Amino acid sequence: MGQAKIYYDSDADLGVLSNKKIVFLGFGNQGSAQAQNLRDSGIPNDQILIANRVDSYAETAKAKGFRVEHDFAKAAEVADVLFILIPDQVQPRVFNEQFSPKLKSNATIVVASGYNVFFNLLKFQPGQDVVMVAPRMIGSSVRSLHEKGRGFPCFVSVEQNGTGKGLDAALALSRAIVREETAMDLFAEQALWPNIIMMFREAFNVLKDAGCSDEALCYEMWMSKEPAEIFERAADDGFVAQLKHHSTVSQYGQLSGSLKLEGGAMREHFKDILYNQILSGKFCKAFSQIEDDLDEEGDANPLNELYKRSEEMELIKAEKRVRARLAGLL
Ligand code: NAI
Repeated sequence: MGQAKIYYDSDADLGVLSNKKIVFLGFGNQGSAQAQNLRDSGIPNDQILIANRVDSYAETAKAKGFRVEHDFAKAAEVADVLFILIPDQVQPRVFNEQFSPKLKSNATIVVASGYNVFFNLLKFQPGQDVVMVAPRMIGSSVRSLHEKGRGFPCFVSVEQNGTGKGLDAALALSRAIVREETAMDLFAEQALWPNIIMMFREAFNVLKDAGCSDEALCYEMWMSKEPAEIFERAADDGFVAQLKHHSTVSQYGQLSGSLKLEGGAMREHFKDILYNQILSGKFCKAFSQIEDDLDEEGDANPLNELYKRSEEMELIKAEKRVRARLAGLL
């Protein structure tokens, strides 16, 4: 996966977008943030079109002064650049059936996640450029950081260089970056964070059994926002260097404790998820099979079922009790 090249604002020339019709498919977390940022950056409003089904997101786009097209075929026909910013699981159906047949043969297609490209789920024509601009940031922050005049890091790669005008250097890196981005995202989602959630759950159970109160536990573990503060320091000062802000007892406990944990079993578990679940395509295949069910309401939606099961965690029950008590105090 090699060393990635870093590009800065000065490497980007907005001039290449002049007179281009830019269509955003979706006005959700990323769509609303990216469309507004682009308009603020000087792209005229009449060059931007929001393609959105009839729903509350379309209303928000209209309220923000954007032109909205509900007929996807019409939006596809005019697009020089198409940002695909609807949920990953609906992209293949919507793009392949409603956009792909009508899109210009030399259109530039921009995705914000490598998932569908990496697993070849989107049908592109050979003359089209396919670019990934994947912000390493949640949508609301993509907007708020821009408003504050600050930036955020993005993964960029040219995945298909149909017009021959894509960045050659980026093209050379492309497969590696899409593979890297997709693999790292899925790894964080399926290996790292499940273990973190499990560790919090079990830490909570042990401390609760030892007699700690709901309030003390919830605040100590996350509601005080101390973990958020620690991660902010880790980003600014260094993953381990941020420990210098902690007490000596804490520094000693954290460093000696983590170095004592050999991690072999966890490494094997992580490798299993990376190779046998993610890169093998096993997860992608299984996820494709529940795609339609994710649009369902209630128990028929597998995500709702998982939320319901998670509510059975003692930690979540305690958090509800604490929040209910706090609401009574406000
Ligand atoms: P979202 O869930 O906010 O998308 C909502 C939008 O999708 C709305 O405009 C809605 O009308 C449209 N939509 C939903 N279902 C639809 C359907 N069946 N047919 C037509 N339109 C439909 O999506 P989000 O979170 O902005 O994700 C968009 C892309 O950005 C994805 O590829 C995601 O992986 C990527 N991304 C998201 C990040 C985030 O912070 N949420 C961070 C980085 C990348």
